[in-house]
Amino acid sequence: MIDWKDKREFWIAGARIADPEAERIRVGSVCVQKGRIAEIVWQKSVETDLPVLDAERFVLAPGFVDLHAHLREPGYEEKETIETGSAAAAAGGYTSVVCMANTNPAIDDPSVVEYISCRAQQVGRCRVYVAGALTKGRLGEIINEYYHLKRAGVVALSDDGAYVTNSQVMRSALEYANLHALPVISHCEDAFLASSSQMNEGYTSTRLGLKGSPAAAEEIAVSRDCMLAQLTGARLHVAHVSTAGAVELVRRAKKKGTRITAEATPHHLTLDDRLLDGYDANLKVNPPLRGVKDVEALRAGLLDGTIDCVATDHAPHSEIDKDVEFDEAPAGMIGLETAFAQLHTELVAKGVIDLLDLVKLMTIKPAATLGLPGGRIAREAPADLVLIDPAEEWTFEKRLIRSRSKNTPLVGARFTGRVQGVFLEGKWQSAV
Ligand code: DOR
Ligand code: ZN
Repeated sequence: MIDWKDKREFWIAGARIADPEAERIRVGSVCVQKGRIAEIVWQKSVETDLPVLDAERFVLAPGFVDLHAHLREPGYEEKETIETGSAAAAAGGYTSVVCMANTNPAIDDPSVVEYISCRAQQVGRCRVYVAGALTKGRLGEIINEYYHLKRAGVVALSDDGAYVTNSQVMRSALEYANLHALPVISHCEDAFLASSSQMNEGYTSTRLGLKGSPAAAEEIAVSRDCMLAQLTGARLHVAHVSTAGAVELVRRAKKKGTRITAEATPHHLTLDDRLLDGYDANLKVNPPLRGVKDVEALRAGLLDGTIDCVATDHAPHSEIDKDVEFDEAPAGMIGLETAFAQLHTELVAKGVIDLLDLVKLMTIKPAATLGLPGGRIAREAPADLVLIDPAEEWTFEKRLIRSRSKNTPLVGARFTGRVQGVFLEGKWQSAV
């Protein structure tokens, strides 16, 4: 193969270009120059002296944008670092991720924001945007200094991993966030109802003898936050919606004109609580995997636009943390490297949505949700692109995992559709 990878100027020729803005997939060729898209032509081949990547087998789309990843640095580098998390992101087709604030220290101070941004730039594998914590230490008591966090570059505010129990604190947080034009991402789980729960409350939890968290834990939290968003006029984004009732609450709030958006994870869209039968701690997540009806409602929400985008909630935990009694295991699964393949296999290949819809849900829609650049394929835009082979059948193996943690129930899964790699500002990173 020619060394087009190391060139600053080259053509990607004959790919099926998935353009989420123009809402079409069409064969064309893209010229990359100095990290930007210099030209797009709607023809299969090009006459040029520049190196040419023959991409006829592939789909070329804007690099994916993830609004919800836990990169763990600073503080939990045994689980993930900015370097390993960015590598995992790139391997999954992502060129932009938003990292969550439950680090140690929490991202509640501009110095932590600056540290993460600098480190991500040094690593240079993926753009890393930062969500600042809503409250000091993410304790839900005292709101942070949003002015300073915004100046340091945060794109949103969130205590993700924890729900802000005190409604007065949440009201103030929304009001101040609104003053600074920052969206608030809420992890909606009533802390008391969900306390010490291990999985979804239902038939399987009863049979397994595990404490369940009822759908009401999420729905009470979503209801309150919808009301507070209405009261304050602030921008609310509901993280990882998992129940049918929560989808309906978001749908109604949108109809009322509330400034609300919502995301769903690949795992909540494809897995359900019956799988917990084998007590695999890799299936333990917050909010928990729900019932089949909830999965159906989430999919309906994706189709009618109630759910705005897909976000991974990539939550690495090391083997020592996860390989313990089920009750003791922390919640979370990694997701950056499997998100596309899992959704392509379960939703696109099975005819639930089409490929262009999936590309939208992973590119312009998340970008628009938090007002981030990216997610577009257009002249002059940065050449942040993903190359996909939608026909490749492959097995997800542990040895392929780039994340520092391997906590996923998908090892051994067969997928249809595989990310081949990304261009980040035109620089190629292979995923295969
Ligand atoms: O399962 C989860 N894990 N849900 C969250 O909200 C937090 C995350 C984590 O940080 O491990
Ligand atoms: Zn969360």
